[in-house]
Amino acid sequence: MTSLDKDSSNTLLEVKNLKVHFPIYGGIIKKQVGTVYAVDGINFEIKAGETLGLVGESGCGKSTTARAVARLYDSTEGQIIFNGQDITHVRGQVLLEARKNMQMVFQDPYASLDPRMTAGQIIAEPLNIFRRRGLITLSRQEIKERVEELMEKVGLSRQYRNRYPHEFSGGQRQRIGVARALSLYPRLILTDEPVSALDVSIQSQILNLLTDLQEEFNLSYLFIAHDLAVVEHISERIAVMYLGRIVESSHVTELYKSPLHPYTEALLSAVPIPDPKVEKTRRRIILTGDVPSPDVLRPGCVFAGRCPRVLPKCRESLPVYKMMDSHHGVACFLYD
Ligand SMILES: Nc1ncnc2c1ncn2[C@@H]1O[C@H](COP(=O)(O)OP(=O)(O)O)[C@@H](O)[C@H]1O
Ligand SMILES: [Mg+2]
Repeated sequence: MTSLDKDSSNTLLEVKNLKVHFPIYGGIIKKQVGTVYAVDGINFEIKAGETLGLVGESGCGKSTTARAVARLYDSTEGQIIFNGQDITHVRGQVLLEARKNMQMVFQDPYASLDPRMTAGQIIAEPLNIFRRRGLITLSRQEIKERVEELMEKVGLSRQYRNRYPHEFSGGQRQRIGVARALSLYPRLILTDEPVSALDVSIQSQILNLLTDLQEEFNLSYLFIAHDLAVVEHISERIAVMYLGRIVESSHVTELYKSPLHPYTEALLSAVPIPDPKVEKTRRRIILTGDVPSPDVLRPGCVFAGRCPRVLPKCRESLPVYKMMDSHHGVACFLYD
């Protein structure tokens, strides 16, 4: 599979066969004793102005994917093509140029915001870094104005610019994180569980904010979440990840209506559905146990160990990801 969708006219990000393996070192002489196969050959793309939801339980490799795309981690294999350019191994100014157009928002806004910096300084930081490197030509006054404008765009009064992170609520802190990510007017924002640490009532406010900003700035999002309920309303397409691989992907309505992979069905089982007609027809799968550790390469399907519909061949060979129609793909022997 090279793409999740046939129309690749305005593709902003294309990830091809991405692998991120971490060596495990042990013993006194720090010899490599193993490998964590955190991301093991994934493909996806995001178009301009589109949101791709990346979903899977904790430990599936979602954060590693985002960090590799943002070039915070080195890729072991594969390609990251952003804005028409292969950025997998670029460095220096070329990497900075790419970073300007691709920013991250993290899960825990308290941990990711420097407690010694004011909100204004935090939001201005990317601007100041890029200014020092000669990549943007804003004056100090223009930076100050942009920070104030960004604060208001994300729903924070500009009067708060001299406050420190601990003086804000969790939702407000995430708004600061969003303003910082927006400061360079990027084209793509990688959001790693941006609402998971927030109260449910605050979650929808942040999701609405992200949707409004998307419209205003024609942003693309890679939106990471561990449950399907959160991504439903914000994503056009969803990719379901398990143990380093994408097991299914489709348009959001299609994926919710007719999930194919038993893992997707299991994730959907956990999402309450208001429509009793849909609720009745839905197959219930309750997953037990956790995602296994990705430090062993298993010969079969990544989900075989927990799959309620497992077949003998699922433990022997890896099902290839294939397209069932123009946009719905799945890697599962049930659909051979
Ligand atoms: N820097 C690292 N070194 C070694 N293993 C890592 C590192 N980062 C993540 N992992 C492992 O890779 C797997 C995927 O992690 P992660 O990408 O954080 O998953 P998720 O974000 O889906 O919860 C986990 O087993 C995790 O322990
Ligand atoms: Mg994570």
